[in-house]
Amino acid sequence: MRARQCRSAVLILTLLLSSAPLFAQGAPLVNAGVEARVDALLGQMTLAEKIGQLNQFSGGGPTGPGTGRTGYGEMVAAGQIGSIFNVTGAKQTNGLQRIAMTQSRLKIPLIFGLDVIHGYRTTFPVPLALASSWDPSLVENAAAAAAREASAEGIRWTFSPMVDIARDARWGRTTEGAGEDPYLGAAMAAAYVRGYQGTRLDDPSSIAACAKHFVGYGAVEGGRDYNTTEIPDRLLRNVYLPPFYAAVRAGSATVMSAFNPLNEVPATANAFTLQQILKREWGFRGFVVSDWTAIKELMAQGIANDGASAARKALLAGVDMDMESGLYLNELTAQVNSGAVPMAAIDDSVRRILRIKFALGLFEHPYVAESDTPNRLDPVHMELARTAAEESIILLKNGDSRPSLPLAGGTRSVALIGPLADDARNMLGSWAGRGNPADVVTLRAALSDYAAKHNWRLSVEKGVEIIGGSDAGIAAAVDAARHADVVLLAVGENAPDMSGEAASRSRLGLPGLQERLVEAVTATGKPTVLIVFSGRPLVLTPLADKVSAIVQAWFPGIQAGPALVRLLTGEANFSARSTVSFPRAVGQEPLYYSQLNTGRPAGKVDLTHPPTNGNEKYVSRYIDETNSPLFAFGYGLSYSKFEFGPPSVSVTTISARALNAGGQTLRVSAEIRNTSSRDGVEVVQLYIRLRGTSVARPVRELKGFQRVALGAGESRHVEFTLGREELRFWNIDMKDIVEPAALTVWIASDSQSGQSTDVQITE
Ligand code: BGC
Repeated sequence: MRARQCRSAVLILTLLLSSAPLFAQGAPLVNAGVEARVDALLGQMTLAEKIGQLNQFSGGGPTGPGTGRTGYGEMVAAGQIGSIFNVTGAKQTNGLQRIAMTQSRLKIPLIFGLDVIHGYRTTFPVPLALASSWDPSLVENAAAAAAREASAEGIRWTFSPMVDIARDARWGRTTEGAGEDPYLGAAMAAAYVRGYQGTRLDDPSSIAACAKHFVGYGAVEGGRDYNTTEIPDRLLRNVYLPPFYAAVRAGSATVMSAFNPLNEVPATANAFTLQQILKREWGFRGFVVSDWTAIKELMAQGIANDGASAARKALLAGVDMDMESGLYLNELTAQVNSGAVPMAAIDDSVRRILRIKFALGLFEHPYVAESDTPNRLDPVHMELARTAAEESIILLKNGDSRPSLPLAGGTRSVALIGPLADDARNMLGSWAGRGNPADVVTLRAALSDYAAKHNWRLSVEKGVEIIGGSDAGIAAAVDAARHADVVLLAVGENAPDMSGEAASRSRLGLPGLQERLVEAVTATGKPTVLIVFSGRPLVLTPLADKVSAIVQAWFPGIQAGPALVRLLTGEANFSARSTVSFPRAVGQEPLYYSQLNTGRPAGKVDLTHPPTNGNEKYVSRYIDETNSPLFAFGYGLSYSKFEFGPPSVSVTTISARALNAGGQTLRVSAEIRNTSSRDGVEVVQLYIRLRGTSVARPVRELKGFQRVALGAGESRHVEFTLGREELRFWNIDMKDIVEPAALTVWIASDSQSGQSTDVQITE
């Protein structure tokens, strides 16, 4: 096994070097000037000072578990800390930095980190929502705005992007990533890194990115947070690693190791993923930070019996910085003195951390201007937040026989019902940075404005709480519905408790009494638009049939209300598409479009009823639910209607040899027409399937996408290119190559539809 991994490492390195620069276009981490400075500084450092750089502690809150302290001044002066996180405000970061720069012997600046996940003060939609835009440039702009705001307060490092592939909606952290697909995930990963880091890391408004959680965290068994993962090496490389590779290639300065054990080796002590893949194969030159107290958790995970071995195992596996456990600080000196940890390993980690500090220009610009700390929202960022929300909110259903949205010009009386109609806090999602509920414009606030201007009668009823509470408010909600032309029903999850970290759910319906509320309100027979605020795709059956329209709003950020009102009234058009599959029942999880075919695919069997004979029974199915998602990956509606012409290809045969050599590509194109009288944006998606290969490949894989704006009646020839990048995969011999195969290509509006054409990939 080991020998095979070694051989493949050499092969991968050769392939990577020949195909793609390791830090393509990203902010340069390595240059001769920086390396010389790192060497010179390292040469002056004592062992204690070196080890000091490897520690990160959380300030600004309750006592840190690694130190039992809240104040870190003395430790910073003694050179025992390399990074502090969770401290915000220019005065606060400057204060600590001044101690590092004036009282510590070597005057090495601190690097301040924070979870700037979807905005800093300006809170954008949660990452799963941003991904639904299928718009990497939007994500890049949002990340750049967050970087400007955070860096103004001295934060030069964010623990973002989370690029974990999430295929099980029970996992609460689904909300933090781009969804289920590695291709889309890779595009989004690179976009975040470009946004945070800009073209120069030493620009004072750039912040270092941190691709997390390395690796496999999204595959936690049962969707239960922190749980075990079992991911065979090939699946790891084909599905879970590509977004990380994209982030590293875009120049991500740092990577965070994950909490989960991966194939029985905790990610925090996993030399195969950290040393071999990340550092050796990919040539990553930045540093790896552990997750919160994860080094200490190696003891609970059963691979270390004391703090000393936990620290040694993590460091030797490639974790350069210890977040919060304090074990590097307390244990590594003795480990080095006893020879258990070679000085070269310490030096390598210190070098990596110093490299990023120099690359960020922290030695030249350790402080930020205190007067410039923005006290109000930047109007440009607010506008971006509204655009981002508009591009992220998905129209999942619009009428049964005729569209229920946009709300007709004649709509005079609207009942806005539900616990999320006027809930500022929840609009901010689960990682709100320094987001402030007071900055949020809720749906109620925005709709009240609109109603006042357009002479609409608006009644508002909460109905029930998100979780718990009583059904006492349902009667008033029903009454409001009866007196309205249309009902907007704002329901969903509680962002901080039900989505994000440590928020796995075993049931995925609307929580609390909300399903009862929906049933009671829809029983009035009034047209009802269900607006769902959630951090994951919820199980919306059987409610989906009872409402006339469904809008998946996720947690849309500070401009939730204005964006929703513009979409609902048709001032703006929907263009978002889902990047996760919506389950019909929890028992379908993990659920994702990119599955392998079975030997007994259900094919044309009618799965809407239990099997009645052998033909219906002995296929891959459930006896009590269909296999398909309620809403598929890539799916989303618009006020426009688009028609896809048949795809055509530039060649019908192409050789694997030529593809592997690089340069050779094939083009696939189709005519897309906006057949409606409404301007709109279609997300045109390219899928492939490979057959006859050495290992089974998925029934469909996304390999390209474009947001195409089409005016009413307009049509456009949309073209994609398929080359080595898109057609390669890790094969039976663990080689990352294009194999001879029968290739099917679709150009489609989602993962389940579209017309296809075939191409032969010959030897
Ligand atoms: C999370 C990370 C986060 C870190 C620091 C951990 O619990 O898993 O994603 O960056 O805390 O706040």
